[in-house]
Parts: sequence; C-alpha cells; structure tokens
Amino acid sequence: MEKRFLWGTATAAHQIEGGNRNNDWWEWEQLGHIKGGGSSDIACDSWNRWRQDLDLAQELNTNAYRFSLEWSRIEPEEGRFDPEAIDHYREMLQEMRRREMEPILTLHHFTIPLWLAHKGGYEHPDFPAYFERFCQNVVPLYAPYVRYWITINEPNVIAALGYLFGIFPPGVQSFSRCGRVLKQFLLAHARAYRIIKNAAPQSLVSVAINVQNISPASASPLDRLAAGLVDQFYNRGFLKAMVDGRTRMPFGWGSRIPGLANTLDYVGLNYYSRIFIGFRLRGGFAEVRKAVPRSDMDQEIYPQGFYQAIRQVAAYKKPILITESGIADARDQYRPDYLRQVIGGMRQAMQEGIPILGYLHWSLMDNFEWNEGYSQKFGLYEMDFTTLERKPRPSAQLFRAICSGEH
Ligand code: FCB
Repeated sequence: MEKRFLWGTATAAHQIEGGNRNNDWWEWEQLGHIKGGGSSDIACDSWNRWRQDLDLAQELNTNAYRFSLEWSRIEPEEGRFDPEAIDHYREMLQEMRRREMEPILTLHHFTIPLWLAHKGGYEHPDFPAYFERFCQNVVPLYAPYVRYWITINEPNVIAALGYLFGIFPPGVQSFSRCGRVLKQFLLAHARAYRIIKNAAPQSLVSVAINVQNISPASASPLDRLAAGLVDQFYNRGFLKAMVDGRTRMPFGWGSRIPGLANTLDYVGLNYYSRIFIGFRLRGGFAEVRKAVPRSDMDQEIYPQGFYQAIRQVAAYKKPILITESGIADARDQYRPDYLRQVIGGMRQAMQEGIPILGYLHWSLMDNFEWNEGYSQKFGLYEMDFTTLERKPRPSAQLFRAICSGEH
C-alpha cells in the first residue's frame, strides 16, 4: 500500500489540451450547445504546455497529478492507433515519474472519438469491446508507470446529463436509455479492469464516481422516499454493482455481469455539492431549490457534505481516493474556506479510521467546463484565455501550505 499521502490536482484531456476536434464533444460544441457560444478550441493549450502545467503542480508542492487520455487522439479512426499520441502520454508519465509525482490515470473522461459517436456511441452493443480494444492498445505500455487507474470518469454523470437530462451529448432524455448506458459502462469497466490487472497485478483500479449529497426537501415520508431512491440510483448503484457484480435499478434487475464482481479496488470519489429532492406525482421526483449560498455554477456551497460522502462510500470497505473536489469561484471568495472545510472533513474521517489514500483538487487551472464553457472557474491557477497565462489565486498558496503540512 502507498505510504505517502497523495496530494494533487486533477484535470481532463478535453478540458485543457485544446485541438481535440475529433470527438463527440467537439461536434456538440459546434452545434451551439455551449454557454457563451464557445468551444473547447485551444482550451489551455496543455497538449503543448503540459510541462509547464507540471511545473505549476509542483509549485503547489503536490506529489500526485490526475489527468486523462484523449481516446480520439489515440484512435483517431476505428482500429487505427496513432503512435505519436500514444508516445505523448507515455512521455508525460515518464516525466511525472522523474519528478516523483504519482500519476493517477483516467482512461476515459467524458469524450469518445467521432467514429464511435457516429456509430451510436455508448449505446452501440460493441461499445464495451471498443473500449476494451482501446485499453489493450495503451494499458500495457503505460502500466510500468501507473499504479492508480480510473477506467471511467463519472459514469453516473454521463448517463444522467447525456441520456436523462439531455444537456451533454448526445442530448437524449430517456430513463431507459440512461439505464442502458450505465450497464454499458459496467460491462466496459469489467473488461478494462481485467486488462489492467493482467498488465499490472499490483495496480489499483476504480472509477471516479460523482457523489452528491442528496437530502429530502422536507421531512415528509414521500420526500424521503424520493431522495432515498435518487441516492440509490445516482450515488450507490454503480459502486455496489462493481462489488457484487449484479445489475440493479436503473440498469437492470439483479442479473450477473460476468467479470464485474470485485472490480472496485478503491473508491475514486468526486464530491461537489448537495441537492434537495422532493416527491412529484409526475416523474416521481424533482430537485427543490432552496435559498442557500451558491457558487458561480449555481451549486450549493456545501463543504460540510464532504464528510458524509466519505462516510457513505466507506461502506464498501475499500480505501478511498478523493479524485475530485472543488468549487467554481472566479473571485476566489469562497474557495479558501471551502478548501479548509473539506480538508477538515477528510481529516475527521481519517481520524475515525477510514482509509483515505489522497486528495486531488479540481482543478489545477481554469479550463473548458463542458456545457458551461469558460464561464466557470475551478482553477487554483487563474487562466487568461487570451494570453494563456496562468496565475496563482490566493487559494493556490493555501493549498500549497496544506500539501506542505502547514495546515
Ligand atoms: C466533474 C467533472 C469534471 C469537471 C468538474 C467541475 O463532474 O468530472 O470534468 O467538469 O465536474
């Protein structure tokens, strides 16, 4: 087991690299779905500036960095793998090792190549096999450098936002299709898990699950029931399936998925906020908005819920890695306090004996925040998107102090 606690930041390829014009998100952006009409375009130009980004991460005194592979660069056409793109990420991994930074590698973070999207994307019956082939082509090459793997980032977010609420590509609104996609992710994860373990038996594999603090809008039994169901469907079902290998609502009725049981080596936890859920005759449930303090992204500022989220996933009796946590706050008004509180909650959980491997803050720098474009600023470093200059926010100093053991 890793001895040193991992302190780091997290990013994702499409949000920072720039030039990713061959995936489903790029196409979605061109259709005008992004707030402010923007697109990922050159984003933070990290495809070229990644060394500088690692410098920034090191200036924070972090010893870990989470980033993702861009599948559409590695497999730009079906079955054609690009050696230069593969080398690019290998070089990043080697450089991180030289700098003694632990890489946390995400294989899939929200984007798929256009060739796959045009065939039906996640819903294509062969999606798990396509993902498996992608993994086969990269995992053995990267395995010498990587101990912590994340197969899929936030399968529950992709399913909910892309297939239930329709605000992520492909813009579908269907409960049954949302469930089907979750099942596809489970199948894909099971295959990726095997490939990783074959290549590197000592490595630790998970997904990064988005856990929302889901509270009933009132004490009424119906609101409690509705909130409980959303909690099951959204927060718990996927991880449970990775432990017992069985489907459950909303992605099945208890059938066994071969190779899925015991594919959760640790829990990758992404935490941001809380929502209130109330019962509705039509649709069963709805979010209830309360007058609470909100971040720029309109999410409740609720660092207190972090401790509960940790407690919730501790039920699986696995080590926990905080793979994301952060706040959209352009003026850095609330971030320092948010940081202090989440770190405080995490320490409390650790004192109670919950094994936590590390904390990775979202994000190193402002970046392309999906459908919100550049409007939401999650960075410890502020990004000037004209000059691409990166400047530390006051929170960067605070995080540095935390990582240095001074807080
Ligand atoms: C998470 C995503 C990440 C980023 C943050 C703000 O849901 O994993 O890419 O968008 O939210």
